[in-house]
Parts: sequence; C-alpha cells; structure tokens
Amino acid sequence: MGDGTLLETLAKQDCNSIYIGIELSNEQCVQAQSRITLSNVIIMNRSFEDLVPTFQDESIDQFIAVLPDPIFIDEKREEQWKLFYKSVHYKLKKEGRLQLVTELTDELFQPVSDDRYSAWADWLRSCFLSLGFTLAGQQEGAPRQYVSRCIKQFSGDPERIRMITLDLLK
Ligand SMILES: C[S@@+](CC[C@H](N)C(=O)[O-])C[C@H]1O[C@@H](n2cnc3c(N)ncnc32)[C@H](O)[C@@H]1O
Repeated sequence: MGDGTLLETLAKQDCNSIYIGIELSNEQCVQAQSRITLSNVIIMNRSFEDLVPTFQDESIDQFIAVLPDPIFIDEKREEQWKLFYKSVHYKLKKEGRLQLVTELTDELFQPVSDDRYSAWADWLRSCFLSLGFTLAGQQEGAPRQYVSRCIKQFSGDPERIRMITLDLLK
C-alpha cells in the first residue's frame, strides 16, 4: 500500500467493506496510520508473502496490487513470484478479482516501443491465465481515478515507464 493514499481513497468510497493495507516498510505504515482514521481500514506492517497465505481460503473479494516491487512481477523471476499469486488465487472468493497495476521499463532506460510493450503484455497476461485467472479487462496505464505516490512518480515519464492494468477474475 505504500503510504496508503490509494487505500484511504478506496476505503472512504466503500464504507461497507474492510480494506487491509499491507506494507513491509515500517516508515510507510507509520505515515499511513498517522493519517488514516477510517474504521474500515486495517494496516498490516508485514510482508504480503507471509501474510496472504494466512488468510482463509476463498475469503477475499478483491486484491489490488499497485506497482509491486519488480522481484514480485518481473520476467526473470516468474517462477518465484507465480507461487505468491497462486496463493492470491486460493484466497479469492469465487469470481473474486485481482487488479494488478505494473510497469515495464527498458534495462538501459530507453523509451519502450509499442512492439516490446505488446509482447510484454501478452506474456504477463499468459502468466495469470496459467494460474487459473480469467481476463476481465486490460488497459494501458493505471486506472484514471487512482492516485498514489508511485503512480504519480511513474506517470511522469510515460515513454520510459509504461504501465498496464490487468483486471483478473477467479
Ligand atoms: C513501488 S512501491 C508502490 C507503493 C504503492 N502501491 C504506491 O503506488 O505508492 C512498492 C512498495 O512495496 C513495498 N514492499 C516491497 N516488498 C514488500 C513485501 N514483501 N510485502 C509488503 N510490501 C512490500 C515497498 O516497501 C514499497 O512501499
């Protein structure tokens, strides 16, 4: 959840749901805790890798992963991070949703071509389909209404940092 900016916005708009913000950095959690006073928000200063497997199976309506660290989504470490998203799949209710916002950059930080972006999007989609998800939607960029510290930062260079949003259903 980073500093919890997006978490706070989403939780304010949907008072009947409980939102759990997960963040490894203690500093980010302290920032979020000092700002967010909503009764439907729980902040967990833990690694999502450790926490998510402890949730009851088929108990979660939706996971929202916004700009996870590359080690949890990049092409080189697919076999490692896939295990985590398999666990996300188990924890979702039937027809629950995983919304993933992630980004592609070039190793030398050159602009990312349309061909490279399209091949990457195909690969990313196929990873999640192989885990049992179905695709409900795909768009370039983050959802327009989403504001977070990292979305703001990454949106500043759209030729070199190309984002994608995948909406995936169980
Ligand atoms: C690129 S930032 C995105 C933060 C936020 N979603 C945003 O859009 O501002 C990635 C965040 O993931 C956190 N993080 C890295 N590994 C984590 C883990 N294993 N469990 C929980 N949070 C983690 C980092 O501390 C960092 O705040």
